[in-house]
Amino acid sequence: MTIFAPAAALRAAGTAVLLALGLAAAAQAAAPSPAAPPAADDKGRRFYEKVCARCHEAGIGPVLRGRGLPPALFTTIARTGLNGMPAFRVSDVDDETLQAVADYLATSKAKE
Ligand code: HEC
Repeated sequence: MTIFAPAAALRAAGTAVLLALGLAAAAQAAAPSPAAPPAADDKGRRFYEKVCARCHEAGIGPVLRGRGLPPALFTTIARTGLNGMPAFRVSDVDDETLQAVADYLATSKAKE
């Protein structure tokens, strides 16, 4: 039996290493990475795709993405409206969501 003890010890050590690696991987997965955009970006993108894109990706309004326009332009025009574009009230889109849309559009690429 003692002859197998080192092998068993090695296996136990191996298991411990694998466990440690697994925990490290899990910790890494939980940490925010640059590849995965923060939740606020996603919220802005989702609102844009659901509401603004109906016109701005359909040739009704001008292209907004990838132009490097400042965030304040999006929030201002969305609140005031512009000719054929309706104004969005706070009951249509709250400030936080609208800011997320503006931040998303200001940093967006033309085609994703
Ligand atoms: C019902 C259609 C419609 C929707 C929905 C809409 N827009 Fe517009 N938008 C327009 C039209 C049309 C124009 C062009 C107005 C003009 O220049 O006379 C415009 C213009 C703009 C402009 C000015 C762009 C430029 O180059 O001058 C911005 C900024 C803008 N929209 C942001 C938004 C945002 C942000 C949303 C979503 C919260 C949104 N729009 C939703 C129709 C729409």
